[in-house]
Amino acid sequence: MNTIQDRHSGTARPRRRSALSVLAAGLAATLLTGCQQSNQLITFGDMSSSYNREVFWMSVWAIALSIIIFVGVSWALFYTVAKFREDRHDAPPAQFHGNNRLEVILVAVPVVIVVLLSVLTVRSMARLNPTPTNAAKIDVLAKQFWWNFSYPAATAEAGGTVSNGNEMIMPTNARVALSITSGDVVHGFWAPNIGGQRHALPSVIKTWNVDTERPGVYQGNCTQLCGASHANMRYKVIALEPARFDAFLSAARAYRAPTPAEGSAEARGYTLFMQGKTATGALACAACHRVQGTPAAGAAGPDLSFFGTRRTLGAGMWEGDKAREMLPEWIKHSPKVKPGSLMPTYDGSEYLVDGKVQRGGRLTDEEIGDITAYLRSLKLPEEADYWRGTPGAIAGGTQ
Ligand code: CUA
Repeated sequence: MNTIQDRHSGTARPRRRSALSVLAAGLAATLLTGCQQSNQLITFGDMSSSYNREVFWMSVWAIALSIIIFVGVSWALFYTVAKFREDRHDAPPAQFHGNNRLEVILVAVPVVIVVLLSVLTVRSMARLNPTPTNAAKIDVLAKQFWWNFSYPAATAEAGGTVSNGNEMIMPTNARVALSITSGDVVHGFWAPNIGGQRHALPSVIKTWNVDTERPGVYQGNCTQLCGASHANMRYKVIALEPARFDAFLSAARAYRAPTPAEGSAEARGYTLFMQGKTATGALACAACHRVQGTPAAGAAGPDLSFFGTRRTLGAGMWEGDKAREMLPEWIKHSPKVKPGSLMPTYDGSEYLVDGKVQRGGRLTDEEIGDITAYLRSLKLPEEADYWRGTPGAIAGGTQ
């Protein structure tokens, strides 16, 4: 009997334990590979950011206080139930109306709790909200459905301000002061690894500080339902060591888009980019996009000055080699591959602008190939390539 039972319990327990550990290992593997496969290091508790550390410790104190309150209330409940049970003689319960001491306690205890919680919150806000004077500044513009990041302190030698679409480059070990706004509807800026979430509101500029100590590539997403491609409104944060960040910024300031060699595909692409094709009604890209060092200064779409250096396309819809592969499709009919995209089509198909149906002008596949070649030539110098050697960098790219 004993031996059978022993054998029984002896095998059942390890089996249950191993089932549990398999479950735990599977869960951990899913979470980890989920992040690695897509190069998206999303974590809510990334302690490399002082913002996240502050919020973490504030939460620890708040939760500790809540546990004390829970234990206290539970104790009071059980104590009262046990001590003041209904007696058998049907006597009316003792009244405590007019018990000043008890009433003072019932008011004072919640006041102390609320004061403690607000001190915790206000202390964290006082630490996180002020912008240090030496902070790096980045202006964030959110639009349906992309982001522009510009560097107000970095005036380009060719005119205008250094800016980049959908890939935000920031220094590590420094507070980065963001000014966030929207060009149309309400969006939300959130890259969890570098700090908290902030709304992007039209006609309002919100300030926000973010930071990280660890160089790397971090995922950012729009957090406010803003239209058909809300889920396709992503961006990358590329955090560089201060020296590399400075190298990027000074190269970006000196940057002028390369002049294509005469008769090359890039040169034909350049002409189409700047002028479109009047014969078929194909609109000029330059009307909506800026390319530093050229006459293209449009602001309706993301800045394309360093397009060839970028490794994402369509506000993070595609990355690496997939982005490269999708580029001609994207130019041809972007509203078809990204719902709600406001870019005109170039294959004669219909698209919507302010609820009105428009028909795009036509470009041949060769002409789209020429524009693609021109866009790929828009590259920062090697030493300013913010992807190169950065941990978590996307392999391949649009170039
Ligand atoms: Cu922008 Cu959601």
